[in-house]
Amino acid sequence: MNYGKTKEVLNQLVADLSQMSAVIHQTHWYMRGPEFLSLHPLMDDYMDEINDQLDVISERLITLDGSPYSTLKEWAEHTGIQDEVGSWDRTIPERMEILVKNYRYLADLYQKGIDVAGEEGDDSTQDIFTGFKTDVEKKIWMLQAKLGKAPSIDA
Ligand SMILES: [Fe+2]
Repeated sequence: MNYGKTKEVLNQLVADLSQMSAVIHQTHWYMRGPEFLSLHPLMDDYMDEINDQLDVISERLITLDGSPYSTLKEWAEHTGIQDEVGSWDRTIPERMEILVKNYRYLADLYQKGIDVAGEEGDDSTQDIFTGFKTDVEKKIWMLQAKLGKAPSIDA
């Protein structure tokens, strides 16, 4: 078996989930407004979920004889998720929009992983990707609902 492309997606996810965790952490810190008391702790939950995904994805890659990126430098070099220096000028809805954009990126990457793992016959990794894609799509629904919008997952 050669799961080469699947392993590439796994390591891409290692970089992106690490970056996503940092972006959520920034959201947790850099928010001001009437919703602070509910959203500040909610971001802890979101970060925990992403960190759990990161650990499962990394350890699946190691299980397949891969080597996950494991330094800040590697994550920054390989991630496709943008970051920005923290600013107090961003509103809470703007920060939620950024999270939605990033969750959509992750959903697309999980879908790519589902396709590639299917082609390579790696059913176990495909199963992991499918579950996490479902979780990420639920986050998109919830954040979009908060913003007064439809999920637009199937649009
Ligand atoms: Fe905190």
